[in-house]
Amino acid sequence: MQDHLIIFDTTLRDGEQSPGASMTRDEKVRIAKVLEKMKVDVIEAGFPAASSGDFESVQAVAGAIKDSTICALARAIQGDIDRAAAAVEASTSARIHTFIATSPIHMKEKLRMTPEQVLEQAGWAVKHARKFTDDVEFSPEDAGRSDIEFLCRVVEAAIKAGANTVNIPDTVGYNVPFQFGQLVQDLMERVPNSDKAVWSVHCHNDLGLAVANSLAAVMQGARQVECTINGLGERAGNASLEEIVMAVRTRKDVFPCDTQLDASQIVPASRLVAAITGFPVQPNKAIVGANAFAHESGIHQDGVIKKRETYEIMRAEDVGWSANRMVLGKHSGRNAFKTRLMELGMEFHTEEELNSAFARFKDLADKKHEIFDEDLQALVTEEGLEQANERYKLTTLHVCSQTGEVPEAKITMSVEGQEVSASARGSGPIDAAFKAIEEIVNSGGQLQLYSVNALTGGADAQGEVTVRLEKGGRIVNGLGADTDIVIASAKSYIMAINKLQSHALREHPQRSHAI
Ligand code: KIV
Ligand code: ZN
Repeated sequence: MQDHLIIFDTTLRDGEQSPGASMTRDEKVRIAKVLEKMKVDVIEAGFPAASSGDFESVQAVAGAIKDSTICALARAIQGDIDRAAAAVEASTSARIHTFIATSPIHMKEKLRMTPEQVLEQAGWAVKHARKFTDDVEFSPEDAGRSDIEFLCRVVEAAIKAGANTVNIPDTVGYNVPFQFGQLVQDLMERVPNSDKAVWSVHCHNDLGLAVANSLAAVMQGARQVECTINGLGERAGNASLEEIVMAVRTRKDVFPCDTQLDASQIVPASRLVAAITGFPVQPNKAIVGANAFAHESGIHQDGVIKKRETYEIMRAEDVGWSANRMVLGKHSGRNAFKTRLMELGMEFHTEEELNSAFARFKDLADKKHEIFDEDLQALVTEEGLEQANERYKLTTLHVCSQTGEVPEAKITMSVEGQEVSASARGSGPIDAAFKAIEEIVNSGGQLQLYSVNALTGGADAQGEVTVRLEKGGRIVNGLGADTDIVIASAKSYIMAINKLQSHALREHPQRSHAI
């Protein structure tokens, strides 16, 4: 009999702390629904005290999700805990996750509290949170750099006060696997009431060890792992959900536990998170990267043709890659289109939305022979933005670029429903297009990142462009796809501008909080 490994997804909270990854309430609900469909046990939906936008998002997720526990983060202070409790009130299964730092450097320099004060505050916070729900999680922040004696006392006090999950974070990604596994083992042995709580881990990836550290702790008895889709998260990110889940599932001979996850939802979830946050997945990313199951060398191809297991340890279709990747084409009907989208976890709320997306699909199929899942994902994301009543929309773009001439772009955009045109010259066609857009929007945003990536194979592939803009410390990402990469670039830039200008909903969740 294998133990159950609880999957605690924090894409909507820690994942959102990546630069530019802030999500709107509706985007969070869309991602939460895919996580629920995937059978994620606990969804950390946000940090309600951080902003009214975050509070509303957590509330919306709590109201929309029935099958996963909804968790809200709170510092170990009354205001945060009360806000968290109010935000998850509507949930059928609500958790409050409260934390306080325990490392010498955090206590002295950040909190300016003595260890005794921290100890007392931790117990008090858990007790206060228990007034609202029976499901309370406690984290000693920066546990990976904390003194073990002190950690034992704090954790014991938290469990005594009613914490039923104790989460050990390696907040700065400093630990290495054997050491982190040992830390969890030592804590479980030394804390007198350790059997009264589920032990959890939360690892950051600064040294590229988040998954390895988490799995080392699982080997020592941790039965909850905190992770994010695509490993999204603060700085170098968090442990990647897909890697944790597939490691324990593929190596059943090693791990004494398994998750309840429906792994076939992994790729759809990965694509959705990438599209919404504007963080593309690197092609060689394990499990969800475009090349994760591609065999290039002749020896490997030969082996896989003879017997797949010669070079494949997992089946691509088990994690949601479609076995037959060319799914639709010019002659595919509306029903086939709708069915494939539903298989990919994408649904339309109204017939009108479906019809409009189908019209886009037909346009794309005229330009591109084979329509792959990646194309459908990009198309649906664009349709979502179209329906979202964004302020700026691209109407037409004409670009002239030839040897010996200065490239020029002429653009027409819809600005709150009014058509506005502008033109500009630039060092290249993309620069010209961005300058033409700026003639209209005058955003003042600084371009921090531009990248283009082919969505699928073939010269007729759509280019997926990521643009990152910064203004006054605020960072936003835009993503756009098209068979014409100048148009994809313009779409991506416009998406970023729309985000930059919708302040209220996209405030960085922890910008105003020194935690
Ligand atoms: O990294 C961290 O320590 C956190 C805590 C709030 C759990 O995200
Ligand atoms: Zn974290």
